[in-house]
Amino acid sequence: MRLAGRSVVVTGGGNGIGRALALRFAAAGARGVTVADLDPDWARRAAERIEAAGTPALGVGCDVGDPAAVDRLVDAAEAAFGPVDVFCSNAGYSDLAPADLSQSVEAWRSIMDVNLLAHVWAARRVVPSMVERGDGYLLQTISSAALITGPSAPGYTASKHGALGFAEWLTLNHGHEGVRVTCLCPNAVYTGMFGRDPDDDSALPEAGSLGELLTPEQVADTTVAAMEGAEPFLVLPHRRVGESFLRKATDYDAWLDRTRGRLQRMRATG
Ligand SMILES: NC(=O)c1ccc[n+]([C@@H]2O[C@H](COP(=O)([O-])OP(=O)(O)OC[C@H]3O[C@@H](n4cnc5c(N)ncnc54)[C@H](O)[C@@H]3O)[C@@H](O)[C@H]2O)c1
Repeated sequence: MRLAGRSVVVTGGGNGIGRALALRFAAAGARGVTVADLDPDWARRAAERIEAAGTPALGVGCDVGDPAAVDRLVDAAEAAFGPVDVFCSNAGYSDLAPADLSQSVEAWRSIMDVNLLAHVWAARRVVPSMVERGDGYLLQTISSAALITGPSAPGYTASKHGALGFAEWLTLNHGHEGVRVTCLCPNAVYTGMFGRDPDDDSALPEAGSLGELLTPEQVADTTVAAMEGAEPFLVLPHRRVGESFLRKATDYDAWLDRTRGRLQRMRATG
């Protein structure tokens, strides 16, 4: 898809990967970029930055876990820039719950609302009009945790697996109607998840045990190049994620044994 002339919505666009994507979509010539974030001030500031560079933009406060709020977000984007061509469900969080089963019922519900169900609320609102026009793009920021379970808490892991399953369902059922779906599944990216706020321009820290730490701008560049190129279902900015996913598919039990050992060693060394 050529992004020039498109109307794009990015959730969680006030910081991190979403903000970098929103800026990158604007640089690619989008006709309008709607930035939504739980923090309305961050959304507004990202929109102002995009407008200052010459692309019309709108900043909207929105909790993507609330289906009515997602409807209002799309209403606002349509009123400002016409039909939504690209919806980027990017908002998400990794809670600080320990990687055990002690997470509360409320914590489970909340992470499912934001990391999984928000993708459903957005698709329910935008896919019918994309199908009518025979054209649309859903970019879902998910995580490597959806493909290869790692040290994350169980709620994060399960919500991301669910989001990937829902994205597969979307492309299998609406791909032939002009709706493209791409799942961005990064590993470590230096964002708010690492305590970085939108104004923090500090250099990339040493990756240490993370293996490879990318900037949100690197991830946004890779993603937009893929969307304007082969439009793949999966975008994996960290190469080792694809390699590990392949090993898992080739021998699931051996992969589980190795990963179990690795997680135990990680826990033992803190
Ligand atoms: N940073 C990483 O290492 C990493 C790795 C894999 C996947 N991801 C995924 O990338 C996506 C973006 O995260 P990030 O790393 O840029 O983090 P981030 O914290 O920098 O940005 C996330 C943004 O989403 C917003 N947000 C959170 N809950 C929201 C809600 N309910 N409604 C609307 N906005 C909300 C936050 O205010 C924030 O601005 C998430 O889905 C995350 O799971 C991140």
